[in-house]
Amino acid sequence: MGFPAQRPRRLRRTEAIRSLVRETDLSAGDLVLPLFVCPGKRVRQEIGSMPGQFNLSADEAVAEAQEARSLGVPAVILFGIPPSKDARASGAYDPHGIVQEAASAIKKEAQGMLVVADVCLCEYTDHGHCGVVQGDDILNDETLDLLAKTAVSQARAGADIVAPSDMMDGRVAAIRSALDAAGLDQVPILSYAAKYASAFYGPFREAAQSAPKFGDRRSHQMDPANVREALKEVLLDVEEGADMVMVKPALPYLDVICRVRQAVNVPVAAYHVSGEYAMLAAAARNGWIDRERVMLESLVSIRRAGADLIVTYFAKEAARLLGK
Ligand code: PBG
Repeated sequence: MGFPAQRPRRLRRTEAIRSLVRETDLSAGDLVLPLFVCPGKRVRQEIGSMPGQFNLSADEAVAEAQEARSLGVPAVILFGIPPSKDARASGAYDPHGIVQEAASAIKKEAQGMLVVADVCLCEYTDHGHCGVVQGDDILNDETLDLLAKTAVSQARAGADIVAPSDMMDGRVAAIRSALDAAGLDQVPILSYAAKYASAFYGPFREAAQSAPKFGDRRSHQMDPANVREALKEVLLDVEEGADMVMVKPALPYLDVICRVRQAVNVPVAAYHVSGEYAMLAAAARNGWIDRERVMLESLVSIRRAGADLIVTYFAKEAARLLGK
């Protein structure tokens, strides 16, 4: 039975009807705000390729977390820019490292805010790679210990959730067993399970000063052409003990989010990454697109594809528009 009995426009006539039949919702409670924490006090330095985003000292990160909380954003994810870097990324697992200090300050001063700690070594190594390097190789098994130590020290400092983003094989199992051995069996792992070797991370690497000094990340991050491999990665991570899995980036990988959602029974996160933010911010700044509408449309698309939660630099701005 087609037209004229079928008139899909009937359900689009008013906002009240559209809202009644809307299939996907987006709310502040689905969003996670990334914060870049740097040394110092009262530092709030704008990131050139991410207008509106800042490198923040711990005190400023606390203020940002408090504001996000008051807007209904339930979680922040922390990245550290340490005062110094070395070959073994010691700043990553220093009990008084940059993320550890920020995590404990936020837990104390932004009541109720969940703190997710990104677990990776690239911001802490002098060569900018995600693991221990030998020649041109990033050693897998030698890196696992350092990642596990990092996760344990972040959780001890107060991080509620640890999120490994390094893409070494076996890191979820290594982190799970180290957390359990340290009495941190209640700390969930949000695994960046399907993380692609993407050029969309460019602005992040400026912000976190984590661009590799040689080579690239293609020996561990995934080939953008692959989706079956993403399913393999997420299933392995769930088997190793991941409580939640992430797909990253988001908009160019909506098909991956959709497939992953169907393949697992754990919450699926998507990371709307720095390059996605930068493109939108730049076009909006030029007056070429409507910033707020394109932002909300992007976020709802990521939800529609199947993401339960979205890590996005727009978290505060979107929350403000969406209400609590
Ligand atoms: C690694 C990490 C990266 C991002 C999150 N965690 C960078 C990379 O893999 O090079 C990128 C996030 C973004 O682009 O917004 N610590």
